[in-house]
Amino acid sequence: MTIINAIKSRRNIKLFKPDPIDENVLLSWLEAASYAPNHRVNEPWEVLFVGPDTRAKLNHKTNFGQAPAVMAVLSKPGNTPFERDENMMAVSCFVQNFLLAAHEAGAGTFWSSMGSSEANRNILGVPQDYEVIGVFGIGYPAEIPPVKPRTPITAKITYLS
Ligand SMILES: Cc1cc2nc3c(=O)[nH]c(=O)nc-3n(C[C@H](O)[C@H](O)[C@H](O)COP(=O)(O)O)c2cc1C
Repeated sequence: MTIINAIKSRRNIKLFKPDPIDENVLLSWLEAASYAPNHRVNEPWEVLFVGPDTRAKLNHKTNFGQAPAVMAVLSKPGNTPFERDENMMAVSCFVQNFLLAAHEAGAGTFWSSMGSSEANRNILGVPQDYEVIGVFGIGYPAEIPPVKPRTPITAKITYLS
């Protein structure tokens, strides 16, 4: 699979098979993800593997599409609002790397933003000032949704003099 193919064929997966993801394989995707760009190589990502008790407390409306694994990805606080934003940008790059690594291996990922609420932050034990970039269901897809077409990129480009 070329990178372009991987980028274009990745989908947000809403339903998973029960087959587990091998932990070492999962770690290899996270390790690859850590080569994301990040300012001053501060590696601002932190990962929480969500176990069954915590998952039950989160009570996600579809139980993350029955994904066999769930993880939350956090972004560390910065010394300034600018640094905080930069950290979130770097962690977003980390996440996209992870999504693509999983996809290339035939797995799928479901991105939920539920971790940003105060109640769910408390359930996850997120330290104050950390941002929750997402909570992710990870597994092998039972259904792959069709592509959601994108706006022609030329409509998003402005040429400056
Ligand atoms: C910051 C962020 C938060 C998201 N939160 C959710 C969510 O809470 N629930 C959900 O179903 N999808 C969520 N998504 C996934 C998008 O809905 C999905 O990427 C979009 O529909 C495009 O589909 P595709 O990823 O299959 O191309 C989120 C994506 C991002 C980047």
